[in-house]
Amino acid sequence: MKVIESITGMKQARWGLSGPVGLVPTMGYLHEGHISLVRRAKKENPSVVVSIFVNPTQFGPKEDFKKYPRDLPRDLALLEQAGTDVVFIPPDAEMYPSDYNTWVDMEKITGRLEGAARPGHFRGVATVCNKLFNIVEPAKAYFGQKDAQQVLVIQKMVKELNMNLEIVVCPIIREPDGLAMSSRNTYLKPDERQAATVLYRSLQLAQKLYDDGERDAGKIRRQMTALIQKEPLAHIEYISIADAANLEEQDKIVTPALVSMVVKIGLPRLLDNIILK
Ligand code: PAJ
Repeated sequence: MKVIESITGMKQARWGLSGPVGLVPTMGYLHEGHISLVRRAKKENPSVVVSIFVNPTQFGPKEDFKKYPRDLPRDLALLEQAGTDVVFIPPDAEMYPSDYNTWVDMEKITGRLEGAARPGHFRGVATVCNKLFNIVEPAKAYFGQKDAQQVLVIQKMVKELNMNLEIVVCPIIREPDGLAMSSRNTYLKPDERQAATVLYRSLQLAQKLYDDGERDAGKIRRQMTALIQKEPLAHIEYISIADAANLEEQDKIVTPALVSMVVKIGLPRLLDNIILK
């Protein structure tokens, strides 16, 4: 496994790789969710590149950019084990020199949900992914359904800017008690970690109500809210039931619908979702 810490080094290494490349963009502090993407990429491509870059431009001024968890030696060991060919760790100053000026700004889809809660977030995500795609030139790039809106944003960018790669979406990997894996789960204290199971329980409730024939989004949202409110450490930021293709909120559910939520427990905003179909 090669570890490359410059953009020119990555471009050179790219031409030494055999066949089409699968790219897995990450911000590091890896867990089984990330590794599932690497394994899928390994299965589908002769060569796999994983990027580790805590992208400053997708964090708001009051967010956790400086404190974002990092553990490079551990990440490298996990990536080596998963069969990664190249780990790309670009320096901030090369990705964004002081006179940096070019952005991918998208409308509509970035104005909702996470885009509304974190102004500028998706501008940073789309820009960095565009840069990574140009540097690595992958045939396929792998993203987790965990960040459902991110997937839609990247898919739309690729389509609308006529980029030559395929976006592969991988399922959410969960802890045994249902909590979606996330690098930020490390911020949870033990009692908060216990409380955090309420997100998946509320999504399962939504699935059950839907399976029993309920199609009124308001009713489903109210029952989810009531369940979450029984957990004193949990604070709902939003629960959305939206058209999975364009994120428009629905009153009556027409499938596929994305039920997505942010619940604050202790420090982190915990994100989770399920698609009803
Ligand atoms: P990061 O949060 O490190 O996530 C990297 C990739 O892993 C994303 O595609 C994310 O959806 C996926 N992922 C995270 N947790 C997962 C889980 N429990 N199951 C399945 N997949 C999971 O998302 C980012 O980084 C950044 O925004 C990035 C795309 C790298 C751009 O900076």
